[in-house]
Amino acid sequence: MKAIGINGSPRKKWNTAILLENALKGAGAQGAKTELLHLYDYNYKGCISCFACKKKTGKSYGKCAVKDELTPVLKKVSQADVIILGSPIYFGSGTGEMRSFLERLFFPLMTYTDPPGSLFSRKVQTAFIYTLGATQEIARERGFDNHIAANEMLMKRILGSSETLCSYDTYQFEDYSKVYAPRFDPEEKAKVRAEVFPVDCQKAFEMGTRLVREGKKAIKP
Ligand SMILES: Cc1cc2nc3c(=O)[nH]c(=O)nc-3n(C[C@H](O)[C@H](O)[C@H](O)COP(=O)(O)O)c2cc1C
Repeated sequence: MKAIGINGSPRKKWNTAILLENALKGAGAQGAKTELLHLYDYNYKGCISCFACKKKTGKSYGKCAVKDELTPVLKKVSQADVIILGSPIYFGSGTGEMRSFLERLFFPLMTYTDPPGSLFSRKVQTAFIYTLGATQEIARERGFDNHIAANEMLMKRILGSSETLCSYDTYQFEDYSKVYAPRFDPEEKAKVRAEVFPVDCQKAFEMGTRLVREGKKAIKP
């Protein structure tokens, strides 16, 4: 069983990456082979609307025809049994790199049927981890959870299953005393980092564990 993590944050050692590492540790503890890829390591664009993936008799039907540094990443994702995505929320949605990745992953698989269908035929377990600077209350007030819920629905529709983990009120800056950000109380941020973030890491670990267990059940019912 292969579990892949996709980090949509430019930072390889901060909140999103740490949560993904924990999720993959949980998957690894259940015997899965794990790999974490960082989208910012790759040079690529989002969907270019070439529609090669929609041409009925074309050799790229159901597959992204664009060849760039994302191509091997998409291949790895399509072969994984457990797919765990992670992204910070930037201005109310995932990062641009995560968005471009999702366009390339989902558009070839999505069918313009009524109701919309999916060409993805394998059983995979998927999850999306979000990190937000906002508290849960502010995230709700500003509608960030609408974007998160829409992504979960899309993942369920295209890949068959998905669950979501949100880590709120994250510790954004290495040193709050060096940045101009009067909205934040550095002591409060440090407290959340020390007390809440480890709980989120544990939830991520348990999620990784659960996804592999569910994946094994799906293979051998
Ligand atoms: C460009 C940018 C935009 C952001 N926009 C939001 C936002 O709309 N809502 C929010 O809650 N946090 C926002 N944040 C904060 C990040 O989502 C948060 O710090 C996140 O945990 C960073 O993830 P990382 O530590 O993995 O890089 C933003 C951060 C940046 C750099």
